[in-house]
Amino acid sequence: MKKVKKAIIPAAGFGTRFLPVTKSVCKEMLPIVDKPTLQYIVEEAVASGLKEILIITGRNKKIIEDFFDYTPELDSLLEEKEQEDLLKLSREMENLADVYFIRQKHPTGFADAVMYAKPFTGDEPFAILLGDDIIYTEQNCKPGIRQLADSYELTSKTTVAVMNVSDDYIPKYANIKAHELDERLCAIEKIVEKPKLSEKFSNDAVIGRYVVDKSIYGAIEKVPVPKKGEKYFTDALGLLAKEGMLNGYKFEGVRYDAGNKLDYLKANVEFALRDKELGADFWEYLKKLTEQSR
Ligand code: G1P
Repeated sequence: MKKVKKAIIPAAGFGTRFLPVTKSVCKEMLPIVDKPTLQYIVEEAVASGLKEILIITGRNKKIIEDFFDYTPELDSLLEEKEQEDLLKLSREMENLADVYFIRQKHPTGFADAVMYAKPFTGDEPFAILLGDDIIYTEQNCKPGIRQLADSYELTSKTTVAVMNVSDDYIPKYANIKAHELDERLCAIEKIVEKPKLSEKFSNDAVIGRYVVDKSIYGAIEKVPVPKKGEKYFTDALGLLAKEGMLNGYKFEGVRYDAGNKLDYLKANVEFALRDKELGADFWEYLKKLTEQSR
């Protein structure tokens, strides 16, 4: 059994759904309360024991690298002022994980981005975490990607996160046909990227957490290059499904799609309500606001 120790985070997209801010601030750095969305993803990987992380960036993403670097001017100022709490926050990312970067040369999508990880992952299985999906888990629950990694380590099959969604969300996500193996695990028979509602297999969607091994590279290579647009990562997963090598895992936790404005706002509200310093005051404010609008 091979242990999952590495993670990759594709982060080369333009973030067009958040224009105009994404003209100069990349979407991975948009905050949920006070932390960039990317920090939540890295923290989930680290809490899952995945401390070697490759971030696949692109042009105009330099601020991501800066975020993981140390900031001597700021830190010495905070030291001088004896602001220990703030200093701790400033240094949080420096030693959290071994973070590596590579640039995707052309914005040719998710499947192509994964190919950049080949030298980093070698023969080892690895996790893929998409930055738009935030999974919140309670203290007594394993982090989202750990749940998938545990399942992979038992089955040695590529494992993707699955969630039941309402019809409105079907055309936004990969959709699966599967049969249940146990309460959480299912064997995926078919998978399709963003189907029309009339073509859905089920209401089970794949969200941005995957544990794969080197078979994914061969599968991506086999997907034909379309005349228009990009190769879909989902089509590579489809090839694994045909071989009976793809499982879905119904994870425990609350998932937010930080890639669309409404869910991004919901994430901000819910994380703010959970915040020890802000939560109570923010709740009072929301209560007043809803009373006024009645
Ligand atoms: C990507 C994947 C899709 C998956 C989704 C989950 O789509 O291509 O299969 O269901 O993430 O968030 P995107 O949101 O980048 O369009």
